[in-house]
Amino acid sequence: MKHFLDIHKTTRGELRAMIDQARRMKDARDGRPKGMADDETPLAGRMVALIFEKPSTRTRVSFDVGIRQMGGQTMVLSGKEMQLGHGESIADTARVLSRYVDLIMLRTFEEATLLEMAEHATVPVVNGLTDASHPCQIMADIVTYEEHRGAIAGRRFVWSGDGNNVCSSWLHAAGQFGFDLTFTGPETLDPDPGAVAFARSRGSNVTIERDPVRAADGADAIVTDTWVSMHDPESARERRHNQLRPYQVDARMMAAGKPDALFMHCLPAHRNEEATSEVMDGPQSVIFDESENRLHAQKAIVRWCLGV
Ligand code: CP
Ligand code: NVA
Repeated sequence: MKHFLDIHKTTRGELRAMIDQARRMKDARDGRPKGMADDETPLAGRMVALIFEKPSTRTRVSFDVGIRQMGGQTMVLSGKEMQLGHGESIADTARVLSRYVDLIMLRTFEEATLLEMAEHATVPVVNGLTDASHPCQIMADIVTYEEHRGAIAGRRFVWSGDGNNVCSSWLHAAGQFGFDLTFTGPETLDPDPGAVAFARSRGSNVTIERDPVRAADGADAIVTDTWVSMHDPESARERRHNQLRPYQVDARMMAAGKPDALFMHCLPAHRNEEATSEVMDGPQSVIFDESENRLHAQKAIVRWCLGV
């Protein structure tokens, strides 16, 4: 069973093949109107369930459109409206859905829920974000970096802000794709030690620098994300804002990076909190390419899972 659960759980060769496939599929569309099917429709006759236990714009629409472009069909389900939200176990849900659909994409809270779904499903399961990671996003981000700047191997990325789920997936990617990562943020929001250890075990240089401008010095890309994630308690909002304000990505921080450094953000953003609008809308920003590339990267992920 080829589940796509995390970047560090997939081999380097398979990850590279998916990135290259995504870029080929993007090129092959070559100006075709957006919703129209691809020339090849490898998902013809396949049904995919997209399950959301948290809100989503990009993940929901990009999976839905991507699968339809490949000739497949989708159903978008909200966890709350399923028996899942009323006490039916994940394991039983996985067994039942596996009788109806060819692939399950799940966005949920605890990573354990995703793992349980994967353990009991007899069809591939794709991680559409958990509290712990967001691998589909970072696959799209690798496509984005490489289409703008060439090979990502050997570059140095800076993550500014909260060491959250998206940061963990960047660390997994650093280890797998061979780039370095500097984290800058408050000590209480340091990245997951397991993700840091994974990146280092694969030879990636991971450093922590509390001064954001020093961290950005000579960077190839500066990345940030929302200060309060969907799984964070609302009560933490004010404290997080106070702690993270010094790590806002602004013109001064961008100026410390290389002149051609990219600014990246998975979105949704809170403008003028984690990054200024000047940076988000500036010439170094590739945020909307990241959003578009969710579509292409996930099409490659789904094809890999289904072997089509
Ligand atoms: N970046 C991302 O996953 O966005 P959504 O929450 O809108 O899906
Ligand atoms: N860290 C954010 C990412 C949203 C795509 C969250 O989990 O809410």
